[in-house]
Amino acid sequence: MKLLETIEAVHNYVNTARRLGRSIGLVPTMGYLHAGHLSLVRKAREQNDVVIMSIFVNPTQFGPEEDFSRYPRDLERDQELAAGAEVDAIFAPPVAEMYPEGYATYVQVEGLTEVLCGASRPGHFRGVTTVVSKLFNIVQPDRAYFGQKDYQQAQVIKRMVRDLNFPVEIITVPIVREADGLAMSSRNKYLTPEQRRSALALYRALNLGAGIIKSGERRAAAVRKAMETEITAQPQTRIDYIAVSDADTLQPLEEIAGRVLLALAVWVGNTRLIDNLILEVKDDVAHYDEK
Ligand code: PAF
Repeated sequence: MKLLETIEAVHNYVNTARRLGRSIGLVPTMGYLHAGHLSLVRKAREQNDVVIMSIFVNPTQFGPEEDFSRYPRDLERDQELAAGAEVDAIFAPPVAEMYPEGYATYVQVEGLTEVLCGASRPGHFRGVTTVVSKLFNIVQPDRAYFGQKDYQQAQVIKRMVRDLNFPVEIITVPIVREADGLAMSSRNKYLTPEQRRSALALYRALNLGAGIIKSGERRAAAVRKAMETEITAQPQTRIDYIAVSDADTLQPLEEIAGRVLLALAVWVGNTRLIDNLILEVKDDVAHYDEK
Protein backbone atom coordinates (compact mmCIF):
# COMPACT_ATOMS: atom_id res chain seq x y z
CA MET A 1 0.00 0.00 0.00
CA LYS A 2 1.27 3.43 -0.96
CA LEU A 3 1.24 6.46 1.32
CA LEU A 4 0.78 9.63 -0.76
CA GLU A 5 1.17 13.00 0.92
CA THR A 6 1.10 15.45 -1.98
CA ILE A 7 -1.40 16.25 -4.71
CA GLU A 8 1.31 15.67 -7.31
CA ALA A 9 1.95 12.16 -5.95
CA VAL A 10 -1.79 11.39 -6.23
CA HIS A 11 -1.86 12.70 -9.82
CA ASN A 12 1.06 10.44 -10.77
CA TYR A 13 -0.52 7.43 -9.07
CA VAL A 14 -3.95 8.03 -10.63
CA ASN A 15 -2.52 8.73 -14.11
CA THR A 16 -0.76 5.37 -14.09
CA ALA A 17 -3.94 3.58 -12.97
CA ARG A 18 -5.95 5.34 -15.70
CA ARG A 19 -3.40 4.48 -18.41
CA LEU A 20 -3.88 0.84 -17.43
CA GLY A 21 -7.66 1.27 -17.78
CA ARG A 22 -8.34 0.78 -14.06
CA SER A 23 -11.46 2.11 -12.31
CA ILE A 24 -10.92 4.09 -9.11
CA GLY A 25 -12.96 4.10 -5.89
CA LEU A 26 -12.37 6.84 -3.30
CA VAL A 27 -13.13 6.42 0.41
CA PRO A 28 -12.86 9.87 2.03
CA THR A 29 -12.23 9.72 5.80
CA MET A 30 -10.84 11.75 8.66
CA GLY A 31 -8.96 8.70 9.90
CA TYR A 32 -9.01 6.98 13.27
CA LEU A 33 -10.54 4.10 11.34
CA HIS A 34 -13.19 1.75 12.68
CA ALA A 35 -15.35 -1.03 11.24
CA GLY A 36 -17.67 1.56 9.64
CA HIS A 37 -14.82 2.89 7.47
CA LEU A 38 -13.72 -0.64 6.65
CA SER A 39 -17.23 -1.46 5.39
CA LEU A 40 -16.87 1.47 2.94
CA VAL A 41 -13.55 0.01 1.80
CA ARG A 42 -15.12 -3.44 1.33
CA LYS A 43 -17.80 -1.96 -0.91
CA ALA A 44 -15.20 0.06 -2.84
CA ARG A 45 -13.04 -3.06 -3.22
CA GLU A 46 -15.99 -4.98 -4.72
CA GLN A 47 -16.76 -2.27 -7.27
CA ASN A 48 -13.37 -0.86 -8.38
CA ASP A 49 -9.93 -1.98 -9.55
CA VAL A 50 -8.11 0.56 -7.37
CA VAL A 51 -9.17 1.82 -3.93
CA ILE A 52 -7.79 5.09 -2.61
CA MET A 53 -8.57 6.23 0.93
CA SER A 54 -8.07 9.84 1.96
CA ILE A 55 -7.23 10.53 5.59
CA PHE A 56 -7.50 14.23 6.36
CA VAL A 57 -8.93 15.95 9.43
CA ASN A 58 -10.44 18.84 7.53
CA PRO A 59 -10.17 22.10 9.52
CA THR A 60 -12.80 23.96 7.46
CA GLN A 61 -15.64 21.70 8.62
CA PHE A 62 -15.02 22.35 12.34
CA GLY A 63 -16.44 25.39 14.12
CA PRO A 64 -14.14 27.52 16.30
CA GLU A 65 -15.45 25.88 19.50
CA GLU A 66 -15.39 22.34 18.09
CA ASP A 67 -12.96 19.44 18.51
CA PHE A 68 -10.59 19.94 15.52
CA SER A 69 -7.43 20.00 17.62
CA ARG A 70 -8.39 17.06 19.84
CA TYR A 71 -10.00 14.95 17.08
CA PRO A 72 -8.31 11.50 17.41
CA ARG A 73 -5.45 10.89 14.97
CA ASP A 74 -3.26 7.79 14.54
CA LEU A 75 -1.88 7.44 11.02
CA GLU A 76 0.26 4.42 11.85
CA ARG A 77 -2.72 2.43 13.15
CA ASP A 78 -4.84 3.62 10.22
CA GLN A 79 -2.21 2.44 7.75
CA GLU A 80 -2.25 -1.04 9.28
CA LEU A 81 -6.05 -1.25 9.19
CA ALA A 82 -6.23 0.11 5.64
CA ALA A 83 -3.55 -2.31 4.41
CA GLY A 84 -5.47 -5.19 6.04
CA ALA A 85 -8.60 -4.09 4.16
CA GLU A 86 -6.63 -4.04 0.88
CA VAL A 87 -6.63 -0.31 0.29
CA ASP A 88 -4.18 0.39 -2.54
CA ALA A 89 -3.15 3.91 -1.55
CA ILE A 90 -3.74 6.36 1.27
CA PHE A 91 -3.77 10.09 0.54
CA ALA A 92 -2.89 11.84 3.81
CA PRO A 93 -1.92 15.44 3.00
CA PRO A 94 -0.80 18.04 5.51
CA VAL A 95 -3.24 20.94 5.97
CA ALA A 96 -1.04 23.34 3.92
CA GLU A 97 -1.22 20.99 0.91
CA MET A 98 -5.03 21.28 0.84
CA TYR A 99 -5.33 24.89 2.04
CA PRO A 100 -2.18 26.78 1.03
CA GLU A 101 -1.59 30.40 2.06
CA GLY A 102 -4.23 32.63 0.43
CA TYR A 103 -6.81 29.86 0.00
CA ALA A 104 -10.15 31.58 -0.78
CA THR A 105 -12.59 29.25 -2.57
CA TYR A 106 -15.52 27.40 -0.99
CA VAL A 107 -18.39 25.24 -2.22
CA GLN A 108 -21.81 25.70 -0.66
CA VAL A 109 -24.99 23.66 -1.14
CA GLU A 110 -28.04 25.69 -0.13
CA GLY A 111 -31.25 24.46 1.52
CA LEU A 112 -30.31 20.91 2.52
CA THR A 113 -27.52 22.31 4.70
CA GLU A 114 -29.71 24.67 6.71
CA VAL A 115 -31.53 22.04 8.80
CA LEU A 116 -30.53 19.27 11.24
CA CYS A 117 -26.72 19.27 11.75
CA GLY A 118 -26.40 22.34 9.51
CA ALA A 119 -28.57 24.37 11.91
CA SER A 120 -26.40 23.55 14.93
CA ARG A 121 -23.03 23.54 13.13
CA PRO A 122 -23.01 26.65 10.92
CA GLY A 123 -20.39 26.38 8.17
CA HIS A 124 -19.87 22.64 8.74
CA PHE A 125 -21.29 21.47 5.41
CA ARG A 126 -19.55 24.26 3.51
CA GLY A 127 -16.28 22.80 4.83
CA VAL A 128 -17.36 19.27 3.91
CA THR A 129 -18.45 20.12 0.35
CA THR A 130 -15.31 22.19 -0.18
CA VAL A 131 -12.91 19.43 0.86
CA VAL A 132 -14.90 16.71 -0.91
CA SER A 133 -14.88 18.75 -4.16
CA LYS A 134 -11.13 19.15 -3.81
CA LEU A 135 -10.72 15.40 -3.22
CA PHE A 136 -12.88 14.63 -6.27
CA ASN A 137 -10.76 16.98 -8.40
CA ILE A 138 -7.50 15.58 -7.08
CA VAL A 139 -8.36 11.85 -7.26
CA GLN A 140 -10.95 11.93 -10.08
CA PRO A 141 -12.61 8.73 -8.83
CA ASP A 142 -15.30 6.79 -10.68
CA ARG A 143 -17.09 6.17 -7.39
CA ALA A 144 -16.93 7.62 -3.87
CA TYR A 145 -18.19 5.98 -0.68
CA PHE A 146 -19.95 7.59 2.29
CA GLY A 147 -21.57 6.13 5.41
CA GLN A 148 -25.30 6.31 6.04
CA LYS A 149 -24.59 7.44 9.61
CA ASP A 150 -23.87 10.89 8.19
CA TYR A 151 -27.13 10.74 6.25
CA GLN A 152 -27.39 14.49 5.74
CA GLN A 153 -23.76 14.69 4.58
CA ALA A 154 -24.43 12.01 1.94
CA GLN A 155 -27.55 13.85 0.73
CA VAL A 156 -25.65 17.14 0.53
CA ILE A 157 -22.79 15.54 -1.41
CA LYS A 158 -25.21 13.86 -3.83
CA ARG A 159 -26.83 17.24 -4.48
CA MET A 160 -23.43 18.90 -5.01
CA VAL A 161 -22.40 16.16 -7.47
CA ARG A 162 -25.66 16.59 -9.37
CA ASP A 163 -25.58 20.40 -9.38
CA LEU A 164 -21.88 20.75 -10.29
CA ASN A 165 -21.80 17.79 -12.72
CA PHE A 166 -19.00 15.92 -11.00
CA PRO A 167 -18.47 12.69 -13.01
CA VAL A 168 -18.53 10.50 -9.90
CA GLU A 169 -21.08 8.03 -8.58
CA ILE A 170 -21.89 8.42 -4.88
CA ILE A 171 -22.44 5.16 -3.03
CA THR A 172 -23.85 5.12 0.50
CA VAL A 173 -23.16 2.21 2.81
CA PRO A 174 -25.33 1.16 5.81
CA ILE A 175 -24.46 2.15 9.39
CA VAL A 176 -22.17 -0.28 11.21
CA ARG A 177 -23.05 -0.74 14.89
CA GLU A 178 -21.35 -2.18 17.93
CA ALA A 179 -22.98 -5.40 19.24
CA ASP A 180 -25.08 -3.31 21.67
CA GLY A 181 -26.38 -0.98 18.93
CA LEU A 182 -24.10 2.06 19.32
CA ALA A 183 -23.31 3.45 15.86
CA MET A 184 -19.57 3.28 15.16
CA SER A 185 -17.88 6.68 15.30
CA SER A 186 -14.32 7.86 15.87
CA ARG A 187 -15.78 10.14 18.57
CA ASN A 188 -16.97 7.15 20.65
CA LYS A 189 -13.39 7.13 21.92
CA TYR A 190 -14.19 10.25 23.98
CA LEU A 191 -16.91 8.49 26.05
CA THR A 192 -16.41 7.40 29.67
CA PRO A 193 -18.02 4.02 30.59
CA GLU A 194 -21.06 5.83 32.06
CA GLN A 195 -21.41 8.06 28.99
CA ARG A 196 -21.13 5.06 26.71
CA ARG A 197 -24.06 3.45 28.54
CA SER A 198 -26.06 6.66 28.12
CA ALA A 199 -25.13 6.76 24.42
CA LEU A 200 -27.04 3.52 23.85
CA ALA A 201 -30.22 5.56 24.29
CA LEU A 202 -29.73 7.07 20.80
CA TYR A 203 -30.39 3.82 18.97
CA ARG A 204 -33.05 2.80 21.52
CA ALA A 205 -34.85 6.10 20.89
CA LEU A 206 -34.72 5.58 17.10
CA ASN A 207 -36.17 2.08 17.44
CA LEU A 208 -38.77 3.35 19.88
CA GLY A 209 -39.81 6.08 17.43
CA ALA A 210 -39.93 3.60 14.54
CA GLY A 211 -41.94 1.14 16.65
CA ILE A 212 -44.50 3.81 17.54
CA ILE A 213 -44.88 4.73 13.86
CA LYS A 214 -45.23 1.06 13.00
CA SER A 215 -48.07 0.78 15.51
CA GLY A 216 -49.93 3.52 13.69
CA GLU A 217 -48.84 6.87 15.18
CA ARG A 218 -48.60 9.48 12.42
CA ARG A 219 -48.08 12.67 14.45
CA ALA A 220 -44.40 13.59 14.25
CA ALA A 221 -44.60 15.61 17.48
CA ALA A 222 -45.79 12.57 19.46
CA VAL A 223 -42.95 10.45 18.06
CA ARG A 224 -40.37 13.14 18.84
CA LYS A 225 -41.70 13.46 22.40
CA ALA A 226 -41.37 9.72 23.07
CA MET A 227 -37.81 9.73 21.71
CA GLU A 228 -36.94 12.76 23.82
CA THR A 229 -38.18 11.04 26.99
CA GLU A 230 -36.01 8.01 26.23
CA ILE A 231 -32.90 10.17 25.80
CA THR A 232 -33.35 12.56 28.72
CA ALA A 233 -33.84 9.62 31.14
CA GLN A 234 -30.10 8.92 30.72
CA PRO A 235 -27.40 10.72 32.73
CA GLN A 236 -25.16 13.31 31.01
CA THR A 237 -27.37 13.67 27.92
CA ARG A 238 -28.44 16.92 26.26
CA ILE A 239 -30.50 16.89 23.08
CA ASP A 240 -29.23 18.96 20.17
CA TYR A 241 -32.10 17.88 17.90
CA ILE A 242 -34.56 15.09 17.34
CA ALA A 243 -36.04 15.19 13.85
CA VAL A 244 -38.81 13.42 12.02
CA SER A 245 -38.19 14.62 8.47
CA ASP A 246 -38.81 13.90 4.82
CA ALA A 247 -35.86 11.66 3.87
CA ASP A 248 -35.31 13.46 0.55
CA THR A 249 -35.86 17.15 1.33
CA LEU A 250 -34.80 16.83 5.03
CA GLN A 251 -37.65 19.21 5.91
CA PRO A 252 -39.53 18.50 9.17
CA LEU A 253 -42.79 16.57 8.89
CA GLU A 254 -45.95 17.15 10.88
CA GLU A 255 -47.83 14.19 9.50
CA ILE A 256 -45.73 11.07 8.91
CA ALA A 257 -45.86 9.60 5.37
CA GLY A 258 -43.53 8.44 2.60
CA ARG A 259 -39.79 7.97 3.10
CA VAL A 260 -39.14 9.25 6.59
CA LEU A 261 -35.86 10.08 8.31
CA LEU A 262 -35.68 9.75 12.09
CA ALA A 263 -32.48 11.53 13.07
CA LEU A 264 -30.95 12.78 16.26
CA ALA A 265 -27.93 14.58 17.59
CA VAL A 266 -27.28 14.30 21.31
CA TRP A 267 -24.52 15.59 23.52
CA VAL A 268 -23.32 12.89 25.89
CA GLY A 269 -20.99 14.71 28.25
CA ASN A 270 -18.86 16.81 25.90
CA THR A 271 -19.30 14.51 22.93
CA ARG A 272 -21.88 15.16 20.24
CA LEU A 273 -23.20 11.91 18.73
CA ILE A 274 -25.52 11.43 15.77
CA ASP A 275 -27.59 8.51 14.55
CA ASN A 276 -30.53 7.92 12.23
CA LEU A 277 -32.98 5.43 10.80
CA ILE A 278 -35.01 5.49 7.57
CA LEU A 279 -38.59 4.23 7.39
CA GLU A 280 -40.88 3.72 4.48
CA VAL A 281 -44.48 4.57 5.39
CA LYS A 282 -46.66 3.36 2.53
CA ASP A 283 -50.35 2.50 2.35
CA ASP A 284 -50.39 3.20 6.07
CA VAL A 285 -47.83 0.46 6.79
CA ALA A 286 -44.36 1.37 8.12
CA HIS A 287 -41.33 -0.66 7.06
CA TYR A 288 -37.85 -0.27 8.43
CA ASP A 289 -34.73 -2.29 8.72
CA GLU A 290 -34.98 -3.79 12.24
CA LYS A 291 -31.64 -5.06 13.51
O1 PAF B 1 -17.41 11.96 7.02
C1 PAF B 1 -16.24 12.37 7.15
O2 PAF B 1 -15.37 11.69 7.71
C2 PAF B 1 -15.86 13.74 6.61
O3 PAF B 1 -16.91 14.64 6.76
C3 PAF B 1 -15.36 13.72 5.16
C4 PAF B 1 -16.45 13.25 4.20
C5 PAF B 1 -14.16 12.78 5.05
C6 PAF B 1 -14.94 15.12 4.72
O4 PAF B 1 -13.91 15.61 5.53
